Amino acid sequence: MNYQILVNKQKKIPDDFRVELKEAFSRYKPGILVEKETLKNFRLMQEEALKNEYVIDIESGFRTHKYQQMLVDNLIKEKGIEYAEKYIAKPYHSEHETGLAIDICVYEDGKYLTEHELKHEDAVKWIHENAHRFGFILRYPFGKENITGYNYEPWHLRYIGKTLANYLYKNNLTLEEYYV
Ligand code: DAL
Ligand code: ZN
Repeated sequence: MNYQILVNKQKKIPDDFRVELKEAFSRYKPGILVEKETLKNFRLMQEEALKNEYVIDIESGFRTHKYQQMLVDNLIKEKGIEYAEKYIAKPYHSEHETGLAIDICVYEDGKYLTEHELKHEDAVKWIHENAHRFGFILRYPFGKENITGYNYEPWHLRYIGKTLANYLYKNNLTLEEYYV
């Protein structure tokens, strides 16, 4: 398994890509699947978040190509093509189709906050500052929109393994900049 795989607007998922998926048992929604090591490390991060009284879970994990296409179609219908291109990847171009991406949600005041509902919660700040210790990076950071091709997504984490995650975090680099 190549945990450092680059998937973006230019680079599609190779046809021979295979992944071992596990049920995440997210309290947000049942049936979410995530790559095995990604889930293991998310669990460790989730436990440590809880020690800080932050309740986090997974809103979205693995997606089939068909499901990704449906999300694209829906977002275009709802918000138009220009908006959609800044927030959703085409099929074979989403990290969610690798099982290595997770969209985080935060439980606060009796409900889960997801995607655009996440603002500057302490929990989000904690995740952004600590995810690298568990092998995750904030994949679409603020200020790097022209490099990643996507708007800031405070919810989207990508598992790449601890060594590279630490390196990218400390040097403030995206995966695109690393692979230049
Ligand atoms: N929201 C990210 C770009 C995706 O669709 O994979
Ligand atoms: Zn995502």
